[in-house]
Amino acid sequence: MPNNKSKANTRAAKSIFVANVKGGVGKSTLSIMLARSLAEKIPPQNITVIDTDLQRTATEFLSKSNPEINVEFIPITPAFEHTNISLVQQFIKQNEFRPGHVAIVDTPAGSSQRLWNLVAEGYCVLIPTTLSNADLYPTENFIRSMDKVKARYGKSYPHLIVCPNKIPFGQKDFSVMAERLNNHDVVIGPALRDLASVRHFYNGKVETWEKKKNINAQNDFKQFGSFVEKFVLNEELDKIYSQNDIPKNVVPIR
Ligand SMILES: Nc1ncnc2c1ncn2[C@@H]1O[C@H](COP(=O)(O)OP(=O)(O)OP(=O)(O)O)[C@@H](O)[C@H]1O
Ligand SMILES: [Mg+2]
Repeated sequence: MPNNKSKANTRAAKSIFVANVKGGVGKSTLSIMLARSLAEKIPPQNITVIDTDLQRTATEFLSKSNPEINVEFIPITPAFEHTNISLVQQFIKQNEFRPGHVAIVDTPAGSSQRLWNLVAEGYCVLIPTTLSNADLYPTENFIRSMDKVKARYGKSYPHLIVCPNKIPFGQKDFSVMAERLNNHDVVIGPALRDLASVRHFYNGKVETWEKKKNINAQNDFKQFGSFVEKFVLNEELDKIYSQNDIPKNVVPIR
């Protein structure tokens, strides 16, 4: 597929942040699975996952499952916040000069203005959340904080993409979520189901996980990877965000 490859190499570099003020919503899992899924579409050496979480989740698992993907461990904790946020910022800036490259930044939970300012430097932010109010309330607050940062600097980036996660099987209706978010400038990405196999990814060996087919997980993350390729890497989101005639700000994409 020489065409696909050359296309991948001439695309503008992208920085994708995976963030939410809320813990446990699936940020690290989405970062890992997205990197794995994109590695089937673009050269894996063009993908860098920046793991800023002291728990090293992404670093541990990707180094075992996909050693061909670059991983940088740059923990952002209160003690290292200042220096390491600058390091991530530098990486993101340098990455902009590497066409075809994608940086995926897994961020820690918590609300630090400095971190939000960093996240606002990306091309887009993936915001995983469940449909539970316990996650949706803080998620809305997070979206408001990001909107404020964008407004303060008069920026149209980053695009904000809410990613419904741990969705019960069979649930297809996201109108309640869309309703809740319709005052915000966000897009709703494809849903990821509540998958037992995703939880098992962390329990056993990666090889055992890969040997089992885990069809549902493969399908969901493949679909998610295709969404990111089309809307983020190929910049379809720019078109959606530049249309002023959308009746609501939320554009659910199936
Ligand atoms: N689609 C899914 N289906 C089932 N379980 C999931 C799914 N996504 C994530 N999980 C599980 O939810 C838990 C939290 O996920 P994860 O560590 O990715 O969240 P996080 O947002 O990175 O958390 P933290 O804020 O602590 O960094 C993990 O046990 C993970 O296996
Ligand atoms: Mg995490």
